[in-house]
Amino acid sequence: MRRKILVVIGTRPEAIKMAPLVHALLAEPTFKTVVCLTAQHRQMLDQVLEIFGITADIDLNLMKQGQQLAELTAHVLTGIDAVLQVQRPDCVLVHGDTTTAMAAGLAAFYRHIPVGHVEAGLRTYDMHHPWPEEMNRRVIDVLADFYYAPTGLSRANLLAEKIAAEKIFVTGNTVIDALLMTVARIQNDAQLHEKLAGVFPYLHRNKKLILVTGHRRENHGDGLTKVCRALAELARRDDVQIVYPVHLNPNVREVVMSSLAERDNIYLIEPLDYLHFVYLMSRAHLILTDSGGIQEEAPSLGKPVLVLREVTERPEAVEAGTVQLVGTDTQRIVAACARLLDDENYYRQFSQRANPYGDGTASQQIVASLLAQFASEK
Ligand code: UD1
Ligand code: UDP
Repeated sequence: MRRKILVVIGTRPEAIKMAPLVHALLAEPTFKTVVCLTAQHRQMLDQVLEIFGITADIDLNLMKQGQQLAELTAHVLTGIDAVLQVQRPDCVLVHGDTTTAMAAGLAAFYRHIPVGHVEAGLRTYDMHHPWPEEMNRRVIDVLADFYYAPTGLSRANLLAEKIAAEKIFVTGNTVIDALLMTVARIQNDAQLHEKLAGVFPYLHRNKKLILVTGHRRENHGDGLTKVCRALAELARRDDVQIVYPVHLNPNVREVVMSSLAERDNIYLIEPLDYLHFVYLMSRAHLILTDSGGIQEEAPSLGKPVLVLREVTERPEAVEAGTVQLVGTDTQRIVAACARLLDDENYYRQFSQRANPYGDGTASQQIVASLLAQFASEK
């Protein structure tokens, strides 16, 4: 019997991390795969789907400018419920810790449809960092039926919460699948590589590139203002150039644009599609970010990551020494960057450490696990 899998995607990072899995599911004839967008994000989501050649079957088109969490949650919950009523899938796959993932998981739970949680078991054990994501991922892990944990540590977190061992599968993170696919695409196509390079004519070969992203809700306001001060200070160095693709969230854009527009050595640009962003990561000397996904990706490119947060749900990366937490204190950020810019030995050690998040086979492993699950139910 053909099983129907409904994959729910709402934001940019979910799309990047679900894209390789969607392709792996589509290649498996035992499954009828249905891709459903909430479109919690619009432009940033469409950018990813286009790069990965994914066409949605259903699009709830929910994004509103400056959306509030309660309204968004309510719309995802009722929107997905209506989809479930019509589609009647055998399993719903959600990813990570977004409002889309939490509310879609809840909608499936209410209809007694099994939920598979991709990137399960990440924890900071601090409900306010990241906010509201720590709550979202915990809610999903309370109601899910299958857990695709990226590492042994995320598995251990789930076991400590009394999730049955047979429901947990350690697969690595699908973001590495997405990254390796994209790196290979760029490397194997000289014309594409040249085209990507042409998009950033303002970058100097002899200046070190600091790539920046920042959007976390708990950093809005004061945190982001202090980060911008650090960037302004770093930009005074003439051996440095800073590129910041600014998230479309108006709360982010207001602060960043008003503090950093028109400064020498700082380039504020629009969010990049994944091909361009991977290209830019590969050109960067170091990366400053509060993003979850970039903490997992950048070490595979040998790029040190300074994380603009006090706590991370990705402690494997801190332990492996591939990322360092620097919070949002201006002087701490400037000092951490200066060390990586000025101390070559330190930089070399930082950039050569192994990435703990997998080998690019996570999607295949998830598909194999789903096949085994359904075979055992026959
Ligand atoms: C959300 C996720 C966060 C994830 C981040 C990835 C939640 C609670 N938060 O952040 O976990 O790390 O996405 O980027 O689910 N906007 C656009 N176009 C877009 C995307 C956003 O205009 O393509 C603007 C809209 O005004 C929108 C706002 O940004 O209302 C915020 O979007 P939202 O998805 O609510 O962002 P966050 O919650 O900050
Ligand atoms: N990314 C991108 N374009 C950009 C900035 C980031 O494609 O301009 C990618 C990045 O490589 C990573 C993902 O988007 O895979 C991270 O998304 P985001 O920072 O929005 O969310 P988070 O990872 O914090 O959930």
